[in-house]
Amino acid sequence: MNPQTPQDRKVRVGIIGVGNCARALLEGIAFYRHDPAATEGLMHPRVGPYTAGSVEPVAAWDVDAEKVGKPLWDARAAGQNLSVGIPWSDLPPVGEDVTVMRGPTLDGAGTRYRERMELAPDWPNYDGAEIIEQIRESRVDVLLNYLPVGSQHATEWWAQIALDAGCAFVNNIPVFIARKDYWRDRFRQARLPLIGDDIKSQLGATYLHRIIVQAFADRGITLDRTYQLNVGGNMDFYNMLEDARLASKRESKSSAVTDAYPRELDPANVHIGPSDHVAWLGDTKKAFIRCEGRGFGGAPIELDVTLTVPDSPNSAGVVIDAARIAKLALDRQDAAAADHVSAWLFKAPPRAVASIPDQTAKDRIGAWLTGGEER
Ligand SMILES: NC(=O)c1ccc[n+]([C@@H]2O[C@H](COP(=O)([O-])OP(=O)(O)OC[C@H]3O[C@@H](n4cnc5c(N)ncnc54)[C@H](O)[C@@H]3O)[C@@H](O)[C@H]2O)c1
Repeated sequence: MNPQTPQDRKVRVGIIGVGNCARALLEGIAFYRHDPAATEGLMHPRVGPYTAGSVEPVAAWDVDAEKVGKPLWDARAAGQNLSVGIPWSDLPPVGEDVTVMRGPTLDGAGTRYRERMELAPDWPNYDGAEIIEQIRESRVDVLLNYLPVGSQHATEWWAQIALDAGCAFVNNIPVFIARKDYWRDRFRQARLPLIGDDIKSQLGATYLHRIIVQAFADRGITLDRTYQLNVGGNMDFYNMLEDARLASKRESKSSAVTDAYPRELDPANVHIGPSDHVAWLGDTKKAFIRCEGRGFGGAPIELDVTLTVPDSPNSAGVVIDAARIAKLALDRQDAAAADHVSAWLFKAPPRAVASIPDQTAKDRIGAWLTGGEER
């Protein structure tokens, strides 16, 4: 542990996959450092002693030849990454001194990815010792997993690396780690925070859809059928054109909504998932949500909502909290808080907390944050 003054306290993060979500996080950190008094766009301006600007990227890994070997700030705008809508031209760069390193490819880059990306020269050392050394040297507190959807093996590989290196793991993607007892028990035993799985974006389709189905239940309306169709133009959506990579994404997105509705729903009447790639949308995502139900005396009720959001900043607004809470949990040696923050901020939290309403999860994490303020 470093002797640090409160102002110097940093959340040292390692970034796995320097795509659009990482870009939004980096530019967001720069934005809040540039204007430390700004509170707009943040659920928690402070998490314990940490501001949004306290998040410090200290290591990053990718496989794209256009990103590996570059300073992180340059890599964030390289390869297939798009403008994510944060006005960064006047912002002080973040991660300029960090060189993006080559991670293992494993199942990270699928067929769609390989159409558009050239892999950097391969890195043969798959035993992980070199990466653990890189993590220790750069003193990473929290590893942020931003691999493409369908990276099952690669995500498990990195979760094991987090355990071996002794850092917290935030799993932003729909591969089940925090949801699995196997991993949850091992992180608990190691007293390391494990937060995940699959970011529930700040004001995203999942959060909105959960609120709607909860409202149906609260107001005595029977929900008969629902869909949530999602389109976007970034690389995440392009990768999701490969159907074979989508099983856990569909499960994560569907269960996030059905868990919020306390009655039975026929799975045949629920259709939720990524739907198409529309190139000209860029980093904009559109979600079309429809709910059909029956109200008083069986009278029909229909609801259609369209949500248009900047996809990647919508994820960064969540990760900025998850990273800081993971660090605070490390400081407090209280890895158990991870479950509540997973329920509040992620689509597929551990089963034990998956059905608690968002408001309850929010209140619990709020109480945990203020309860230990003095520590
Ligand atoms: N709102 C959101 O944007 C949102 C919400 C929920 C979940 N997610 C998930 O977060 C993840 C990241 O999203 P994104 O938009 O940044 O994706 P992206 O496709 O822009 O970025 C993925 C990055 O991973 C790199 N990569 C591929 N294989 C790798 C490997 N083996 N090792 C290291 N790096 C590798 C790619 O080169 C790329 O830089 C995706 O799985 C996405 O589904 C995003």
